[in-house]
Formats: sequence, structure tokens, C-alpha cells
Amino acid sequence: MDNSVLDALICPVCGLEFMDVLPGETALACIDGHSFDIARQGYVNLLTGHGTKFTHDTSAMVAARDAFLDAGHYRELADALAGTVRNVLTGAPEAPGGAAAGRPAASHGPEAAHRPLILDAGTGTGWYLRQLLNKLGGDGAVDAVGLDISKFALRRAARRNPAAANLVWDLWQPLPVEAGRADVVLVVFAPRNAAEFARVLKPAGRLVVVTPRPGHLAEIARQAGLLGIQAEKEAALAASMEAHFELESSRAVDIALSLSPADVANVALMGPAGHHLEQQDVERAAAALPGLTEATAQFTLSVFRPCPRREVRDNHVSAR
Ligand SMILES: C[S@@+](CC[C@H](N)C(=O)[O-])C[C@H]1O[C@@H](n2cnc3c(N)ncnc32)[C@H](O)[C@@H]1O
Ligand SMILES: [Zn+2]
Repeated sequence: MDNSVLDALICPVCGLEFMDVLPGETALACIDGHSFDIARQGYVNLLTGHGTKFTHDTSAMVAARDAFLDAGHYRELADALAGTVRNVLTGAPEAPGGAAAGRPAASHGPEAAHRPLILDAGTGTGWYLRQLLNKLGGDGAVDAVGLDISKFALRRAARRNPAAANLVWDLWQPLPVEAGRADVVLVVFAPRNAAEFARVLKPAGRLVVVTPRPGHLAEIARQAGLLGIQAEKEAALAASMEAHFELESSRAVDIALSLSPADVANVALMGPAGHHLEQQDVERAAAALPGLTEATAQFTLSVFRPCPRREVRDNHVSAR
């Protein structure tokens, strides 16, 4: 974890800043003395003492996700994301195809002293963040924070993105990040806490969200035990976003896939269904499939602009 990223973080106990981690130190400590162990793999559990009822992804689910992503099936999505994030960082308009040139530049104003900050909410194994960092000029070009509730996922994320702050955290709690510091909040198939994402973003920052569309991997939905995308859930999410964000752009990213039986098994095990599926049953069912199964991944890549900040006082709302 680079010390430069610590500037953007706040202690979840007292809200004060963290001190630099010196070589050989094994804990992250705030200036008021609250201390959080740095795991051997490099991630930090900030949830200590908070407790959570959340059922986090198991080691087997995380391994399946990593294997599937590492096989490169979603590389096109990673490339599209990188193009979009680069556009946000350089202030270039989002173009169809997401292509833009140039190295990332910190946004204007007093924040210019810092490297651009990317917050990956629900970073999982950090695979998308890694692809992004590679395309943005490597670890030194931007600061990155990866938040996830699964320590199994973060073990991998911390190895993959050692310069980033990889933090065990619940996205439904106030985020351990200073207000107005992030240039990009990235959410790839993870929960969206719109109020908190709006709080941590710079006014010129953007929320970049990837969601699956109805029909995503429909060809293998039954074999892979994929849960359907519920229309009501989507509508509720859209409504929660509306209070804090305006949709700036949205585009489809569709990827034609040829999946081996092992790939299909990984898709089944890496998703929410992985919580209640037996690995052996999934692998047996997948083994009965033909050599390769054709399927189409269907995603939406959306960019949201934060609404001008509002102050709520005495039931009176005024734009600042
Ligand atoms: C479908 S995975 C996506 C992971 C990663 N973005 C990717 O695409 O590879 C969803 C991730 O969100 C995390 N997650 C779910 N609920 C969370 C919460 N309340 N707080 C933090 N992370 C959460 C899970 O642990 C999981 O890693
Ligand atoms: Zn503290």
C-alpha cells in the first residue's frame, strides 16, 4: 500500500487521518491511536469491532471468479472501462467505443496536488482495477482504493494491486474516505451506496457503473444456476441513484463467448448462486455440456455525474 493513498482515507472510528506506514510496520494507525493490522497479504480489515451480518463470498467463489476473469473472457469489458475512466480523468467527452488518448491528469483546483484517486467499490479480486491501472500508466500514475467485504477476495486483490489500499469494509456503512476526494468511483457488479459515493466524489468526478442486462448469459443461465435480474430491484436502484446523480452516458457492452465446461462451472460458482451450490454438483453438470457453449455476456456501462451538493436544513433544501 502506497503511503500517498492514505491521504484520502479517514479512520472509521474517529474520522481523523491515518499516519504513513513506515517500512517494517504491520499496522495502519490514525493520529488518534486507532490501529488496524495489515494482513500478511497486504490488505487491512477496517471493519474490526463493527461486526456485520453480511454473508461474504467464500474462498471457493472467489477462486472461481478469479479463474474466469483470468481466462480473459471479460477483457473487452475491462478495455471499455479503461477507456471510460481515462475519459473522466482527462476530461474528454465519452465517445462511442470509449477510446481516448493521453495520460491521466489530476482534475483542476486545490485537489491538483494529489494523484487522481480511483475508488473501486466491491473490488473483489481486484482484476478490473488491475487492468485499469495497467492502462492508465501503472501503479504510480493514480492512487487506488479497493473496498470489499470479503477478506478472501481482498487477499487476492492485495497481491494483484499492492500499491492500492485494499480495505475490508461494508459499502453500506459510511466509507472510510474523505469527502470530495475521488475522481472516479467504480462499481462493477457490486452494491451501490449512492449517498456515500456522491459524498466521496469530487464535483468533477464520476461514478462509473457496470451492470448485467436482462439476457446476460441467458444461454447458460439454467446450467449455471444464474439468478434472474429482477426488474423491481433495478427500478429501486435507479431511484436511489436519482437523489444523488444524473446519468451522463450509458452504453451496451456485449461480448460473444465460447465457454468450456470448466468456464460454465466457474460462472455458476462465482455468482450469488455460489452461496448455495455444491461445487461437485456444478462441475458434474458442466462436464455433461458439449465441448464449447456459445453465450453472450450483456452489460451496461454507465457514467453518472454527481448532482450539485445540497444542504438540508430545517426541511429546507438549497443547492450550494
Ligand atoms: C459480483 S462480485 C464483483 C467483484 C468485482 N467488482 C469483479 O467484478 O470482479 C461483488 C463483490 O461485491 C462484494 N460485496 C457485496 N456486498 C458488499 C458490501 N456490502 N460491502 C462491500 N463489498 C460487498 C462481494 O464481496 C464481491 O466481491
Ligand atoms: Zn481513529
